[in-house]
Amino acid sequence: MSSAKLNLDGSEYELPVTVGSEGEVGLDISRLRKQSGAITFDPGYGNTGSCSSSITFIDGEKGILRYRGYPIEQLAESCRFTEVIYLLVNGELPTQAQYQEFRESLTRHSLIHEDMKKFFEGYAITAHPMAILSSMVSVLSSYYPEARDEEARELNIIRLLAKAKTIAAFSYKKSIGQPFIYPNNSLSYCENFLNMMFAVPAEPFDVPQVLTDALNLLLVLHADHEQNCSTSTVRMVGSSQANIFASISAGINALWGPLHGGANQKVIEMLQRIRSDGSNYKKYVDMAKDKDDEFRLMGFGHRVYKNFDPRARLLKKSADEVLEKLGVDDPLLEIAKNLEEVALEDGYFVERKLYPNVDFYSGIIYRAMGIPTNMFTVMFALGRLPGWIAHWMEMRNDPHGRIHRPRQIYTGQTERKFVPIEDRD
Ligand code: ACO
Repeated sequence: MSSAKLNLDGSEYELPVTVGSEGEVGLDISRLRKQSGAITFDPGYGNTGSCSSSITFIDGEKGILRYRGYPIEQLAESCRFTEVIYLLVNGELPTQAQYQEFRESLTRHSLIHEDMKKFFEGYAITAHPMAILSSMVSVLSSYYPEARDEEARELNIIRLLAKAKTIAAFSYKKSIGQPFIYPNNSLSYCENFLNMMFAVPAEPFDVPQVLTDALNLLLVLHADHEQNCSTSTVRMVGSSQANIFASISAGINALWGPLHGGANQKVIEMLQRIRSDGSNYKKYVDMAKDKDDEFRLMGFGHRVYKNFDPRARLLKKSADEVLEKLGVDDPLLEIAKNLEEVALEDGYFVERKLYPNVDFYSGIIYRAMGIPTNMFTVMFALGRLPGWIAHWMEMRNDPHGRIHRPRQIYTGQTERKFVPIEDRD
C-alpha cells in the first residue's frame, strides 16, 4: 500500500500512505491544502497522527502497551523505574555499568538550590501540589540555563528527573506544615521520595519494602502512554523551541485536568461519595448514563483502549496484594470492585466499550500507602516525567520537525464594517 486517492469536488488527489512498524496505516495529508485548498477536520484529534514516534506502542483494541517494544506486563513484573527511565529516554535498557552511572547521577542531582526553598514560603497553605509542581519545574529554568549542546541538555534532563521528586515531596511537607526532609544519597529513587514524604527530623523513617515496591510498580505503569493530552502538550510547547522545563511544566498542567491525570483524585472522591450515599452502585451508574447529568464514572473509559486497559488490570491485582501486605482494610476497594462489576454488565458501558482505566485502582493503592488524595496527580506526573522527556527529545531531534500549528474551520462572522461606538444602538 503506497498511496490513497481522495475525490473532492470531481478532482482526484493522491495521498501518500505511511505505515508504522506494527502495521498502522496513516494517510499523509500534509500537502493536501497546497494541492486542493482543503484541510482535514478532526476535533479532539481522535483520528489524527501528529507525529511518528518510536517510543511507545498501544493497541487499544487488543489492550496492548509496550515501551520501546517491551510489554508492560514484563516491565511491571521485574524492572526498576530508574531502568524504565533510562529505556524511555535513551531507547535501550541499560547495561549494569550504564545503570550504576545513571542511578548515581540521578541521586547526585536530587537537591534543589537552597534559594528555591524560598518559593515554597510564598504558596498558600491550601495550594494544590500540582500548582506547586508545575510552577517549580518552570522555575528550574531560571537556575539552569537553556542547553545549547547535547551534554548540557543531558544534564538538564538528569536535573529535572532528580529534582522533580524532591519538589513533589517538599510540596507535600509544605501542605502539612512540616519541615522539609532533604534527599538522602544512600537511598534508591523510590526510597528517597518516600523518605522525603514520610520522615520527620526527630524520627528516622525506615522505608518499608512493600511501599518501595508499590511505588515502583505505579511509576513504571505511568511512565509513558504515547500521544495523550499532556504528552502532546509537551510536544506542542517544545515545538516552539521552548526549553525543557517550560515544556514539561505545561505538560504537568495538562495532566492536572479531571479527564486526564486528575481523574485519580476524582475516583477516590467519587467512591467516598458513593459510600456515604449507601453504596447504591446502580444509582451512580444510571447517573453516569444520563446525558442531562454531568456525572461520569471517573476512572472509566479511554480514548484509545476499547478493551481492558492493561495497566488497570495490573493495578487491580496489586491493590489486593498491597493492602493485604500493609494490613489495610479499605472499604473503597470493595466499592470500586462492585462498581466495576455493575458497570461492566450494563449495556451502556458494554456498547461503548468503557472499561476501568489506569486511574480507577491507582488511588486505592496510594491511599493505603499513606499518600494524601491531593498528591495523587503529582504521583502520576512523577511517573510520566520520563515519557514526557523522551517525547520532547524525539521531537527536538527530528530533522523534519516543525512548529505545531493546526488549522481550523472558521465559523464566525464574515467581513463587516466597523461602526463607531456613538453610532451603535
Ligand atoms: N462515564 C459515562 N459515560 C462515559 C464515560 C464515563 N466515564 N466515558 C465515556 N463515556 C461515554 C460518553 O458520554 C460517550 O457517549 P455517547 O457516545 O453516547 O456520546 C461515549 O462514552 C464516548 O466517550 P467520549 O467522551 O466521546 O470519549 P473520549 O475519547 O472523548 O473521552 C475520556 C475519553 C475523557 C477518558 C472519557 O472516557 C472520560 O471522561 N472518562 C472519565 C474520566 C477519566 O477517567 N479520565 C482518565 C482517562 S485515563 C488518563 O488520562 C490517564
